[in-house]
Amino acid sequence: MRFTDDALKVLTDPRTEIRDDLVRIPFELDRPVYGQVDKVLKEMGGRWVGAKKVRAHVFPHRIEEHLRQCLAAGEYPSKYEQGWFPTPPALAMRVCDLAGIRAGDRVLEPSAGSGALTAEIARRGGVIDAVECDEFRADMLRAQGDCRRVFAADFLKLDPLEYAEGFDRIVMNPPFSGGLDHILHAIQFMKDDGVLVSIMSAGLMWWEDKKTAEFRAVVEEVGGEIEALPDDSFAVCGTNVRTCLLFLPGYAGGPLRTHDWLLRQPRQLDLFETAA
Ligand SMILES: C[S@@+](CC[C@H](N)C(=O)[O-])C[C@H]1O[C@@H](n2cnc3c(N)ncnc32)[C@H](O)[C@@H]1O
Repeated sequence: MRFTDDALKVLTDPRTEIRDDLVRIPFELDRPVYGQVDKVLKEMGGRWVGAKKVRAHVFPHRIEEHLRQCLAAGEYPSKYEQGWFPTPPALAMRVCDLAGIRAGDRVLEPSAGSGALTAEIARRGGVIDAVECDEFRADMLRAQGDCRRVFAADFLKLDPLEYAEGFDRIVMNPPFSGGLDHILHAIQFMKDDGVLVSIMSAGLMWWEDKKTAEFRAVVEEVGGEIEALPDDSFAVCGTNVRTCLLFLPGYAGGPLRTHDWLLRQPRQLDLFETAA
């Protein structure tokens, strides 16, 4: 959900206090503007505490870093709207540590949102291609200047063979719904000796449908790991969705349909198509 201009102006005013689990506005607002700010803070999970000593919106968790991330992005995840849950900074560091990003690595972030992961990848010297289907967020990623290229596109529709070579690292926090489809598609962009690290719904650890069960078997076969993240990992975004962290190393000759695997497939079909 986008902040209204008025709400953004109030929340970024230097007098507004955003600290730990509270937001306090120590100056008078017009009633309609107050209404907008109050609505935003409540949609983000805060509640107004009018007691004289408090007089602030108080959240059930620390809000400071997350709210600053949202103000920079110009939008916030509302409890009424699913989809954009920016990775909190500490978790972004953890994801990049696990991926072992080295300076000069070619890194793909296939659902880059407003750049929580790309900022951390860039800090480590990764050379990033980012994809984001939302035009507003894609523009923001371009403005941040952390990525070599930003594609405003549906990642699931991108053809891995449009790339001459695969990526060293893939780092992602795809939409929670359909996350496994994003991961399976992303594997096709990875080098045989690459690494993919993804945040995903914790269901990846226990869903019993064929696709998920087969995927878990592949993760085990290639020496990957899936570990549960703490229940409150995304609480700052106003969601209690339970998540896990997938570590998937490439494995030449194994069961992963990587970018190198795709390149090894015979091209006769293409030749027949051209001849026809
Ligand atoms: C859970 S958010 C995470 C954003 C970012 N990866 C991060 O860690 O902060 C998922 C993002 O994926 C984007 N998205 C959803 N479906 C997509 C698709 N098919 N192709 C590209 N981006 C997509 C959403 O717009 C949203 O910004």
